[in-house]
Amino acid sequence: MSRVEPAPKLPENWLTYQRLLDSDTHPVPDVLRRENPISLPPSEIPVERYTSRAFFDLEVERLWKRVWQMACREEDIPDVGDYIVYEIAGMSFLVARVAPARFKAFVNACLHRGRLLREKDGLRATEFRCPFHGFAWNLDGTLKHIPCQWDFPHVKPSEWSLPEAKVGTWGGFVFINPDPNASSLEEFLGDELTDQFKRWPLELRYKQAHVAKILRCNWKVAQEAFMEAFHVVATHPQLLPGIGDANSQYDAWGNFSRAITANGTPSPHLAWKPSEQEMFDAMVDRRLDEPALVKVGGPLTARIAAAAGGREMLRPALGPSVDELSDAELVDSFYYTVFPNFHPWGAYNRIVYRFRPHGANVDESIMECMYLVPCPPGAKPPSARIHWLGPDDDWTEAPELGFLARVFNQDTFNLPKVQLGLRAMSKKTITLANYQETKIRHFHHLLDQWLAR
Ligand code: FES
Ligand SMILES: [Fe+2]
Repeated sequence: MSRVEPAPKLPENWLTYQRLLDSDTHPVPDVLRRENPISLPPSEIPVERYTSRAFFDLEVERLWKRVWQMACREEDIPDVGDYIVYEIAGMSFLVARVAPARFKAFVNACLHRGRLLREKDGLRATEFRCPFHGFAWNLDGTLKHIPCQWDFPHVKPSEWSLPEAKVGTWGGFVFINPDPNASSLEEFLGDELTDQFKRWPLELRYKQAHVAKILRCNWKVAQEAFMEAFHVVATHPQLLPGIGDANSQYDAWGNFSRAITANGTPSPHLAWKPSEQEMFDAMVDRRLDEPALVKVGGPLTARIAAAAGGREMLRPALGPSVDELSDAELVDSFYYTVFPNFHPWGAYNRIVYRFRPHGANVDESIMECMYLVPCPPGAKPPSARIHWLGPDDDWTEAPELGFLARVFNQDTFNLPKVQLGLRAMSKKTITLANYQETKIRHFHHLLDQWLAR
């Protein structure tokens, strides 16, 4: 049993994120002033969590079959009859819009001899008819048709509706829970999360890009690479002049955690002092052969220039309210993790990640990156379709991700090597940092609770 230490802190005299906020040129909202550092076991995570079939199967039984999980955006299925196929750890669900403001999720398997009802997303369906022998269900899941009904006197149509998963919505996302006895999505997410996103309504955005890539590593190896800024110094050294990686703040509440990493401020790891221009160029990952996007210097600091650019980009969608946004909300990275695998970014960064096992593979996962962009009320452009990348495809094959594609290449370069290293390791645990790996500790603390139930 691990000991619970007092909440860990950054070193004395370190520039904390809270002190950096004091220099914002606009009022800083209360949500950015909140702090809830945690000190939780475990700091030692068994390696078999990432490599063992038995552990994976336990996750399926105790986690994926019971937990709320993000399935899609509401605007992915805009019209009645639109549906997506949501797959998780070998399970498959049809998530459909069954009325203008009503969603349902069905187990995607025919009740006759088990064929998947649908392999791909679809539009404006009026029924789900199985391609094998033709059993059919209405959009609301009730049985519609039995071919040669005389041969099935033992089937009671009223008892042959498609089994359902629970459905809830939050922030324009549709969540499902396979457990019919689960408590509500609202209860699971909690008031604190909803309160923190009140200023940044995700439901008023549309999905501008959606890229999914198969990775050769366990799903937790993949997601944990996006839950701390501790890796920046070694993995993304080109970003250091413009990122306060080791100044990041880490907090957790209930079923979610949050990291905040400041941009437009130099890394404490740097032994030299970059100019404001160098900070700005590092923030946008400018390569030497590319022209500077903006000339900064003097009173126009990297942070102020980036914030001003962000305000003008958002003005068409948000109107004059952009002038009330703090620099921090336009410049810094607020990366949330909602247990177990959903990662919406806060403020006005566009990113949302989701990480899932790839089928029932212990050693493979799917990483998705979506860009959610504000749009004027009532004018949502069509939702981007998923652009799939294979395990050997380069992220730059998805130019819709912009400069982040190069950063993701650096991130995901390590991951198959982590998986191989975990399998080769003689040490039985991985060891987490007290503070900078807060979010990963919090995740495993919750996972422990789920698996023990
Ligand atoms: S398996 Fe679906 S109709 Fe037979
Ligand atoms: Fe990274």
